[in-house]
Order: sequence, then C-alpha cells, then structure tokens
Amino acid sequence: MKLDLRNKTVLITGAAGFIGANLAKQLLITIPAIKIVGIDNMNDYYDVHLKESRLDELACFDNFTIINGTIADKMLIKNVFKEYKPEVVVNLAAQAGVRYSITNPEVYIESNIIGFFNVLEACRNSYIDGAKGVEHLVYASSSSVYGSNKKVPYSTKDKVDNPVSLYAATKKSNELMAHAYSKLYKIPSTGLRFFTVYGPAGRPDMAYFSFTNKIVKGDKIQIFNYGDMKRDFTYIDDIVTGLINVVQKTPEATEDGVPYHIYNIGNHSPESLMYFVETLEKCLMSEGIIDKPVEKELLPMQPGDVYQTYADVDELVEDFGFKPGTSLEEGLSRFVKWYRGYNKNN
Ligand SMILES: NC(=O)c1ccc[n+]([C@@H]2O[C@H](COP(=O)([O-])OP(=O)(O)OC[C@H]3O[C@@H](n4cnc5c(N)ncnc54)[C@H](O)[C@@H]3O)[C@@H](O)[C@H]2O)c1
Repeated sequence: MKLDLRNKTVLITGAAGFIGANLAKQLLITIPAIKIVGIDNMNDYYDVHLKESRLDELACFDNFTIINGTIADKMLIKNVFKEYKPEVVVNLAAQAGVRYSITNPEVYIESNIIGFFNVLEACRNSYIDGAKGVEHLVYASSSSVYGSNKKVPYSTKDKVDNPVSLYAATKKSNELMAHAYSKLYKIPSTGLRFFTVYGPAGRPDMAYFSFTNKIVKGDKIQIFNYGDMKRDFTYIDDIVTGLINVVQKTPEATEDGVPYHIYNIGNHSPESLMYFVETLEKCLMSEGIIDKPVEKELLPMQPGDVYQTYADVDELVEDFGFKPGTSLEEGLSRFVKWYRGYNKNN
C-alpha cells in the first residue's frame, strides 16, 4: 500500500551513519513537512568527526532532531517512541563490518540483536489502546546473509542458513525476528539486503576508503584472496533512492497473512577486486592526487570474507520500477572528488 510521508514523523536509527545521514537529508529535501528524528550513539568504530560532519549538514533543517544514545537502551527507545510517536521507523543503527565481528563479537549482539529487539518491541507497543502506531518498519539487512552461497545472482528466494560471520548471523536474525513480529503483531516490515555501499563521506573501514587513505600516503595495499574476489558495489545515491521508494510502500501480506518482505538492493553488476583497485587508482591519478599506481601485497582469504556478492534485483524492479545503475567508474570518481576536499581539511 502507498504510504504518504508528508507530515509524518520518521525515526531513523543510525542517523549519523553513512546511509542514515544520506537518507535523512534526501527525505528532508524532497518530502514536504516531514519530521525526522534520528538516534545515534556516535561510537568510535570509525572517525567520529565524519559522523559529526554528516550531522552538521542536517542541523540546518528545522524539522530534524538528533538524539545521542544507543538503541540497546530499552528505556531510551521507549521514551523516544512515547514522545515522538513515529509513523515510520527505519532501523539502520548496527555494528557493521565483517572482520571486526571476529575480534569484537559483543557489540554485535548488543547493537544488532538487543538494539533491534528494542525497536521491534517499541513498534509492537505503538499499537496499544488502538493507536495507529508504526505504519512501516524498514530495516537494514545485508548481502552477507548469503554467506558462501555458490548460486549467483543471489536471490531473496535462496536459502541463507549458512552465515560465515557473526555480523551475517545477526543480520539474518534480524530478518527472522522481524518476521515473527510482523506475524504476531501485524507490523508491516521490509528488510533490505544492501550490497557494498560506497560514495562520498562513506565509511573509512571499507576497502574503497581505506585503500584510498593508504594509496595517498604511498603505503602498499593488502589485497585478499590474491585479488580473486568480486563485489556488487552500489552507489549511495542509488541506495537512498531505493530506500525512499521502499519506505513509501508497505508490504503486501504473504500467503500466511504476514505483512513482510525482503529485497536485495545491489548494482546487479559484480566487479573484480583488481578492476576496482585499478579504477580507484585511475580516478586518483586523474584528480592529480597520485602520479602512479601503488605496491600491492597479495594475501590469502580472510576469515569471515566471501568470494563474491551479486544481487538479483528483479523483485525491486517489479515492485518499484527501480534498480541501481551508477557505474563503478562514475561512483568512484565522485568519491575521489569528495575525498580531495576532505583530505585537504584533515
Ligand atoms: N554500507 C554498506 O556497505 C552496508 C552493507 C550491508 C548492510 N549495511 C547495513 O546498513 C546499515 C547502515 O550502514 P552504514 O554503512 O551507514 O554504517 P555506519 O556505521 O556508517 O552507520 C551506522 C550508524 O549507527 C550508529 N550505531 C551503531 N550502533 C548503534 C547503537 N547501538 N545505537 C545507536 N546507534 C548506533 C553508528 O554510530 C553509525 O553512525 C547498518 O545496519 C549496516 O549493517 C551496510
């Protein structure tokens, strides 16, 4: 069903994050009289200044409010729902990163499992006393749920019971928890499996950003599985367009009467790791940031990593007439242009 966001309050968790801040900004620009309430715990998994600078950009909108706190705090979430009564909830707050989940597992349980549970409970309680409550819950899942599945492209109809990292296991758990709550309490919920999102002011822990930092310093870069990996790189603007489309349409009930759906959002165009590095170097050379390619150290596969990601986006096209389309060349060029200014100021 179509959902008109005008005059609605949208709660975005992880609003200072890469995807959250871009989503908030686009909603504030394009939807008249929308109110956005953001929650973020501003953790230092990566440079907090980057999160602050994203929030600075949002601060100029009168109808944007940010709350500093964790979704793992049940009372905080309860109070936020009580005070702001969001009609739409977009849960993007999570501990991201596959490799970090090997060394820091606790934080994944706290933010991704307990935090998400608190959000689900608050959605459930929003209907008490006949209140209209939450009309749509949209939450971030991940391509990592596909683990080492061999069949490509990855379809939401594929079996995803073999996660290869705790991060992936928490994301799959979110999908299961959302299904149970949608079934029991009729919360309309849509999960989105994002595929390697990149772009300006993105995440410094991700390869495109950390490689750039190293290349600029003249350090050698480490390439795992000897470069034999593929990623379906998806540009941030495509993710935001996809998210806005999805948020504005609540899912049809399944045959079992559950208002629940899951979509892939990816570029449907996996690129090899080596091609990605070469393209990044070309962009950095054409901006005059480096004058020659850097040394590469080829290493074996890392635990928790997968060989490839490749999104089947047929359902997204069918239901929304949209699929991501920004090429890697174009997206990396825009990232490098942004990086140039960022690097100068830092
Ligand atoms: N970027 C990608 O390639 C990608 C791919 C697949 C899935 N995802 C998922 O999309 C969502 C957004 O990712 P992103 O790339 O914007 O990451 P991000 O780390 O930039 O954003 C997440 C934000 O959530 C906040 N946060 C973390 N734990 C929190 C907590 N307990 N309470 C409140 N805030 C908390 C962080 O401070 C951060 O600002 C995440 O759920 C992530 O797992 C991202």
